[in-house]
Amino acid sequence: MTQTINSTPKKSAPKKTDKTTQAKATKQSLRTQVLVIGSGIAGLSLALKLAGKPGGHQVMILAKAALSEGSTNYAQGGIAAVLDPFDSIEAHIADTIDAGAGLCDPKAVAVVATHAAEAIAELIDLGVPFSKINKLENSTAHTVSHFPFHLTQEGGHSHRRVIHAADHTGQSVLDILIKAVKTHPNITLLPEHISIDLILNPKRTRCVGAYALNKKAKKVMDITADFTVLATGGASKTYLYTSNPDTSTGDGIAMAWRAGCAVGNMEFNQFHPTCLFHPKDRSFLISEAVRGEGGILRLPDGTAFMTQYDERGDLAPRDIVARAIDQEMKKHGIDCVYLDITHQPKDFLKAHFPTIYERCLKVGIDISQEQIPVVPAAHYTCGGVVTDLEGRTTLTGLYAIGETAYTGLHGANRLASNSLAEGLVFAKMAHLSIEKAFKTHQPITQIIKSWDTTGITEPKEKVLISHDWDEVRRVMWDYVGIVRTNKRLKRARQRIRNLHKEVHEYYRQHTLSSDLLELRNLVLVAELMVMSAQRRRESRGLHYNLDYPHTHKTAKPTVLQPK
Ligand code: FAD
Ligand code: SIN
Repeated sequence: MTQTINSTPKKSAPKKTDKTTQAKATKQSLRTQVLVIGSGIAGLSLALKLAGKPGGHQVMILAKAALSEGSTNYAQGGIAAVLDPFDSIEAHIADTIDAGAGLCDPKAVAVVATHAAEAIAELIDLGVPFSKINKLENSTAHTVSHFPFHLTQEGGHSHRRVIHAADHTGQSVLDILIKAVKTHPNITLLPEHISIDLILNPKRTRCVGAYALNKKAKKVMDITADFTVLATGGASKTYLYTSNPDTSTGDGIAMAWRAGCAVGNMEFNQFHPTCLFHPKDRSFLISEAVRGEGGILRLPDGTAFMTQYDERGDLAPRDIVARAIDQEMKKHGIDCVYLDITHQPKDFLKAHFPTIYERCLKVGIDISQEQIPVVPAAHYTCGGVVTDLEGRTTLTGLYAIGETAYTGLHGANRLASNSLAEGLVFAKMAHLSIEKAFKTHQPITQIIKSWDTTGITEPKEKVLISHDWDEVRRVMWDYVGIVRTNKRLKRARQRIRNLHKEVHEYYRQHTLSSDLLELRNLVLVAELMVMSAQRRRESRGLHYNLDYPHTHKTAKPTVLQPK
């Protein structure tokens, strides 16, 4: 077992019987065929496939916040897929591998590039309102015969390849997926339930479910499942400034590590080059599609600088653009650079980027008249729980899909808009794999011990938790950022190791809360990131270390295995 066990007093059933609040939630032990932890694009797509038509599998979806909360909801630019007959799967593969700085697994890249278009077709069938060419009046719309949807351009893509719903692609996809899971008879929804740890069989060779804290009832329940899927998103909240929502605390990676799974490439943290720099709205993303539609990065005096760094200029891959901005900011002692899209007419901007237009206007920036102040911020976790091409982790019965997984697709730097595509395609791969596994699977009969709260007390000083949250994120931002050195990494390792010990002790003694569980995961994942960064004695993609500026001829992933 990963955990010691217990007994919490049973409470009476709540009056509400709404599908998402479930009378079941008052039970201390639940059972399902497939437990999907996470309600982003990856988790929901897989759940719908497994639940299928009536007669499909029983699926339970756990989400630590509202179902809609997660990175998917904030995705702007779109989803990369070969949809234009003048584009090719080979070109998508080549662009992904080039952005990944030699570290992508070509097999994983081929899987995503080959299956992305059929995943998009399924979303269109479900009713996702992707932007059509004729809706984007005055646009430089790319016309593909018989294909009505607009394709935009992003950094590192040699072709217009990104299908989108204006600049709110993620929300438009999620709205449709949530509607579908809410009405599906085989799917049980448990929002506001945070998974704590995986449950293993006595020999620790198989995952048989998970423990979760019901945040409202403040009770821990055990959920037994034939198959468990981590779809918990990334870990960019390890950094002080991030484009990500609060859910990105690396819980899936931490749970998998504690259960004995291998994790890979945790040193590759992607910084998005252009997040809004404004005291009233720090870290709101300004989509790369703005540069795709002609946006230019400039210094305060108006000088465009990206062509000095890469022949692709403002549309170079993200690692190159973020590093260039960092260098220019340091060189000139400035707090931000500027993104200039003022050459595009107001109507064009409102049609393509309604969310960005309105959000900037709210803080007093009319993007059709003024340049947007921008800085890089932590955006995407390229590494994660090691999986094979079916989404299987190194622990039997446990899958990982979406941003929490390390499939080999992104290598040392993710190509823009490949993440939503990966979530969709690996949901498909995991679905096929779980269906196959069910054919020979013996249902889990293990009796799960309930959660043990003996000796646990209410915390007297919650400030300790908030202080540690701050500290870990600041240490990561200051010492494990866009540019690293051996000295900074060593300092980060020492600080985080101490924090890790403190938090672990606190966790063992005090009543559980979301903040505490997330902090416990955050410090562990931060430590894995620093350990991985220290192991890589070269600079490659997103990992740039001044003490090892060169790139080795042979590229090797960093795979860590728990002892
Ligand atoms: P998420 O969507 O992050 O969902 C994670 C889920 O796991 C949530 O439901 C959360 O509540 C749940 N969860 C986490 N931990 C627990 C726990 N312990 N217990 C229970 N539930 C838990 N990518 C693109 O390809 N194109 C884009 O245009 C794009 N734009 C982006 C813009 C922004 C601002 C951001 C932040 C990201 C963007 N990305 C984009 C990246 C992409 O959105 C994410 O990588 C992707 O949505 C991740 O999907 P996911 O399903 O893996 O996880
Ligand atoms: C963006 O719109 O710039 C985000 C795209 C991505 O993260 O893939």
